[in-house]
Amino acid sequence: MSDSNNIDYGPLQPLIGTWNGDKGKDVAPEPDGVENNPYYETIIFSGVEDYVTNAEEQVLAAVHYRQVVKRKSNDIVFHDETGYWMWDASGGIIMHSLNIPRAVSLLAGGNHNGQAESDGSMVLEVSADQNSQDWQIIQSPFMRDNARTTNFKHKIVIANDVLSYSETTMVDIYGSEFEHTDNNELRRQ
Ligand code: HEM
Repeated sequence: MSDSNNIDYGPLQPLIGTWNGDKGKDVAPEPDGVENNPYYETIIFSGVEDYVTNAEEQVLAAVHYRQVVKRKSNDIVFHDETGYWMWDASGGIIMHSLNIPRAVSLLAGGNHNGQAESDGSMVLEVSADQNSQDWQIIQSPFMRDNARTTNFKHKIVIANDVLSYSETTMVDIYGSEFEHTDNNELRRQ
């Protein structure tokens, strides 16, 4: 898919394309402590070819993405994620829906005025919380009871065909709250 229908993707426009990065750092929970996983990945963002209209009132521009992450140590996929980024121009809101095959999904949100920073970079920042009325986390009964995601924060900065992100997922697991973090720097293909 492309942005061929003259959709105004606003702050999501710089995402569209194929990105590769091999500087990934994952910090993940283990029963006896912490697992550090260097990784590389490809993320493909493609513009949804028409606006989405909700209740004949809200108009969203949307970008679909697929993220495939491989461990450097064995080249095996250890994280697979898909979802959408959405922009509500008149509400000044960006939203990020995320699904992972652990039976965890969420809808994170944040404010955005549609403008780039003064240095030309675009910053996208969203969060979700188990207690939020607006930006919520959905998980299976097993995950809720054994590895509950309680909070999620994600920041992307795109500048000069370099996309950097950092995300923090708080996971209640093995009897305590674990700060599960992921960050990487990707280049446009
Ligand atoms: C680049 C992104 C990510 C990578 C590379 C990654 C990788 C990992 C790894 C290695 C584990 C340890 C368990 C295992 O070895 O399978 C883990 C656990 C977990 N991850 Fe992620 N993760 C990422 C993003 C996320 C996101 C976005 C969420 C949810 C919003 C999430 C939720 C969880 C949960 C709930 C667990 C605990 C399950 C368990 O350890 O048994 N992760 N992740």
